[in-house]
Amino acid sequence: MAGSITFSMIKPDAYSAGNSGAILKMIEEAGFTIKAMKLTKLTPEVAGKFYEVHKERPFYGELCAYMSSAPIIALVLQKANAVEEFRKLIGATDPTKAADGTIRKIFAKSIEANAVHGSDSDENAAIEAGFFFSQFERV
Ligand code: PPS
Repeated sequence: MAGSITFSMIKPDAYSAGNSGAILKMIEEAGFTIKAMKLTKLTPEVAGKFYEVHKERPFYGELCAYMSSAPIIALVLQKANAVEEFRKLIGATDPTKAADGTIRKIFAKSIEANAVHGSDSDENAAIEAGFFFSQFERV
């Protein structure tokens, strides 16, 4: 069984710190297959659309400004039970609460600059992957 997919981003802090390669290595070593990958820089408008679900939250403006402040790497990843398995690998949103050995524990700087994004459901994984990638950009 090839498994299900999740969508991830390596965020501006991790990209800018030169941690993209180390994070991709952890992702592959955890058994995820990269099905799509793109380096890009979001505009505040595109970040706003991606995070629209959070638009009523107090940090929405800051989050969109932050996510458009430097390049990101967008990823579609495949593994059995991908959404849940990936959230285990990255750890809690707040790095001070993330378990030892998780990507956020190792690389995140704050709840905003928290190294990686991971989808929170299969439904959102499909929506988020479709937001970034056409069918010709996925294998
Ligand atoms: S989650 O994963 O959706 O359950 O996490 P959640 O706590 O709902 O946070 C959603 C995204 O918002 C970011 N976030 C913040 N950004 C800036 N400031 C504050 N205070 C803050 N709190 C949460 C958090 O990093 C999540 O980003 P993504 O890209 O979804 O991981």
